[in-house]
Amino acid sequence: MKVLVIGSGGREHALAWALKRSAQVTEVVCAPGNGGMAQIARIAPVDLSDLDSMVELALREQPGMVVVGPELPLALGLVDVLRERGLRVFGPTQAAAMLETSKSFAKRFLQRHQIPTANYAVCTSAEEVEKALELFHAPMVVKADGLAAGKGVVICQTRRAAQEAAQGLFTGELLGSDGERQVVVEEFLTGDEVSFLCLCDGTTALPLVAAQDHKRIGEGDTGPNTGGMGVYSTESILDAKTREWVVRHIAEPTLRGMAAEGTPFTGVLYIGLMMTPRGPQVLEFNARFGDPETQAILARLDSDLAEALSAAIDGRLAEIKLRWKPGASACVIASSGGYPGSYETGKEIRGVDAAEQVAEVVVFHSGTALRAGHLLTAGGRVLGVTAVGENLREALARAYEGMRRIQFEGMYFRRDIGHRALRKEG
Ligand code: AMP
Ligand code: GLY
Repeated sequence: MKVLVIGSGGREHALAWALKRSAQVTEVVCAPGNGGMAQIARIAPVDLSDLDSMVELALREQPGMVVVGPELPLALGLVDVLRERGLRVFGPTQAAAMLETSKSFAKRFLQRHQIPTANYAVCTSAEEVEKALELFHAPMVVKADGLAAGKGVVICQTRRAAQEAAQGLFTGELLGSDGERQVVVEEFLTGDEVSFLCLCDGTTALPLVAAQDHKRIGEGDTGPNTGGMGVYSTESILDAKTREWVVRHIAEPTLRGMAAEGTPFTGVLYIGLMMTPRGPQVLEFNARFGDPETQAILARLDSDLAEALSAAIDGRLAEIKLRWKPGASACVIASSGGYPGSYETGKEIRGVDAAEQVAEVVVFHSGTALRAGHLLTAGGRVLGVTAVGENLREALARAYEGMRRIQFEGMYFRRDIGHRALRKEG
């Protein structure tokens, strides 16, 4: 089977890498791909913000399966169009993707179906925000309704700060866009954050191993938010009993609710959980694989990914049992100096092959490009050095040894990925 992977990040590189190992997969095409995918798959140019260009490519390629990575094509309705044209696509429809693309939809959905989440109010004006804020104690959280590439969430220590944040979202000043018609004001939750991803076929939720990521740029989880600077996956993140609870009280009611509302959810349901003193609560949904969670999760997968995604497309997930490498995995991100602010690209990257000589290390590319045989930086997050090990300490040691062998001008990475989990492990 030929598989078409849509996207250009580390997540898609990891997907292409895992799909290539399947006995069912004869060819992987990545669109638009990056410098890493260019080394393991055929690259086809496509514009991820242009629905027509993606549809044309898929119709021309006629793959046996399409796997959609990023949120933008999902929001544009790529899955709907390709399915109408008879292709087998892994991902949610535009309507089902609203669990990610509209926070007000997701919050109201959670409330309608009594799924645990923070108390909230949806507001359409500064006056409504002011009224809503009377119901919350500081700190409170103000969120853009729509997709905001990680810039849409502001944690506010005072009511005044919350009003200003809401104003910034309404005017668009905070987002560098047209501004939001609605914002969500929400209670601040405390606890450990866990990324819990499930493959879904509309009725069955098949959990992947849980992961924890580090969103902040600075060591000690300080400084501005990023797309994610590192992530790890271990058994200890979520014990079996809690995992069962989350499937039964969050994942399954979500699938039942979506089906009952006429928008069954297929694809990856990424549940952002906060493990609060009151129990696990939903912080957010994503309608896709996480980045860099996917790199660490797929490093541990010991089953055939193509078979599992195929089963999800065909509504046969209940037949699938996934096997995982015991122990742990970790993925450390190398970014361009200046990220998440402005940064330069086009810097030559050296040492990736040497890094992959380290036992159990694989380097997934995010923002890279291959030009005339040279590997160059082409984005904020550049590489995800990923390793598995018998435990987290070993996985991290391998990933950092791999990282030590890589160089490019301005390269930055956090040296404390996994610090909380290591402390817990003692
Ligand atoms: P979201 O895009 O909704 O996941 O928010 C991004 C990040 O903001 C989350 O990963 C959390 O770290 C933080 N966050 C969002 N909502 C809350 C909340 N209600 N309480 C505490 N932190 C939150
Ligand atoms: N790592 C967070 C995300 O993929 O949204």
